[in-house]
Amino acid sequence: SDAGADAGAERPPSVFAHRGASAYAPENTLAAVDKAAELGVQWVENDVQRTKDGELVVIHDDSLRRTTDVERVFPGRSPWKVGDFTAAEIARLDAGSWFGAAYAGARVPTVAEYLRRVEHHHQRLLLEIKQPELYPGIEGQTLDVLGNEGWLDRQHLADRLIVQSFSADSMRAVHEQEPAVRTGFLGTPSLARVAEYAGFVDQINPSHTLLTPRYVSAVHRVTGAHGRPLEVLTWTVDDAATARKVAGYGVDGVITNKPDVVRDALGGQ
Ligand code: G3P
Ligand code: CA
Repeated sequence: SDAGADAGAERPPSVFAHRGASAYAPENTLAAVDKAAELGVQWVENDVQRTKDGELVVIHDDSLRRTTDVERVFPGRSPWKVGDFTAAEIARLDAGSWFGAAYAGARVPTVAEYLRRVEHHHQRLLLEIKQPELYPGIEGQTLDVLGNEGWLDRQHLADRLIVQSFSADSMRAVHEQEPAVRTGFLGTPSLARVAEYAGFVDQINPSHTLLTPRYVSAVHRVTGAHGRPLEVLTWTVDDAATARKVAGYGVDGVITNKPDVVRDALGGQ
């Protein structure tokens, strides 16, 4: 039971908790993973970037400003780029208070810490390599951390891990370096591009705002990097009506900040 190997079947799409259950807990924190687990959601999505001293951390923006108290702790360091701070500096930041007082003290997790929490809950991970053009070599480094944490064994590779990016070059690099890892391209490429990317990805993952039933069907007719039909996951869908609509298009997965709402709408999992 992966994210929809039998594309076109009656089974409802898989539900992916976007940045964790990020409508209910601060995005990309361990608390958001815990919240997804509490809701019984199997898949979590996260975003990976790199610190000044080469540590991989889980955060969406390339600046620490929106989701931490970095402006207060390091007032002179505008524009507070993730890549301009060491892992030790980032570990001092509060990544929860901006969301709500109940989450004061939540941290920006390292990827290793994040993987351990997902593993603890026996969840599955859709890992996004964010803005890889800022971080040369981040693909190999991500694979190293995954390997060190036990995420490249047969079981994780089969149905617990997908790596995705808006960068096709980045996904080509992941596929070349570790061909067994399932990968996804974020975006709505032309069908000519889809055919090209199918050499190194297993999924095409478009914004729901650009999705049509014809596009989903056309992508499903293309064979992906591991010999199965390309899958389609769509983002970010937070209401029941849109969830039902994209399910009707035949998508394999829905990425959502409100996994409980989407799951209830789709009647799955
Ligand atoms: O997983 C898809 C979605 O996360 C891509 O957009 O900006 O939320 O990372 P973004
Ligand atoms: Ca993302």
